[in-house]
Amino acid sequence: MLVFAGSDGNNVFPSVVDFISSFYPTPPLVRLDRFGDVWAKLEFFNPLSRSIKDRTVQFLLRKYLSNDLRDRLVFEASSGNVAISLAALANVYGFKYRAYTTKHLPEATEVLLKVLGAEVVRVDRDVIDEEFWRWVNEEAVRSGAINLNQFENVDNPEGHYYVTGEEIVRQFRSVGKVPRVLIAGIGTGGHITGIARSLGMSLAVFMSLVLSLRQVVQYLALSA
Ligand SMILES: Cc1ncc(COP(=O)(O)O)c(C=O)c1O
Repeated sequence: MLVFAGSDGNNVFPSVVDFISSFYPTPPLVRLDRFGDVWAKLEFFNPLSRSIKDRTVQFLLRKYLSNDLRDRLVFEASSGNVAISLAALANVYGFKYRAYTTKHLPEATEVLLKVLGAEVVRVDRDVIDEEFWRWVNEEAVRSGAINLNQFENVDNPEGHYYVTGEEIVRQFRSVGKVPRVLIAGIGTGGHITGIARSLGMSLAVFMSLVLSLRQVVQYLALSA
């Protein structure tokens, strides 16, 4: 079900980097007509992790791509999808990825990460909380590794504001609609915060305060 946006229409790419750059389709927006005027944004159309986290990883990596990532170490905590996306891209950009994760990472995901060449550090913790990601950050500093830190990195909500959110606004505009309510999952709070801001909503931002206070406060301060 992959949809390729790029190249010359014949889907021919001169390099893997060219391929990956045009790899990301616009995830469809679909009206769920059984439920009235409810629309679903199908983020599982993202090709690597089959989730919105492919986009988060793009936003987090963007500023590193102009510098040479080859042979650099990247440490990042993830409960799964960011890790899959990073592990795949490590092969394209030539960096080495160490995934820090919890005891609940599905076995199949661990196998996939290892097949993709990532190192997996399974920590005996239930969730990735602030203490966890601070420790990963310290480990990165100790090893001279890059820590993208999706939990505190403003490129996460900012990317979702400028790209994901604007895309949703455009998609709704094309059918003459303006969304009033946003329902989204919350991990880091990155996508709900960025998209809510694009849609001019504040309730969703309030909801994300519950779980991601630091991220939201930083982001609101930056965008004020
Ligand atoms: C499929 C999926 N959707 C959403 C989220 C949460 O996104 P965010 O970190 O932007 O809040 C996650 C991970 O936490 C996820 O795996």
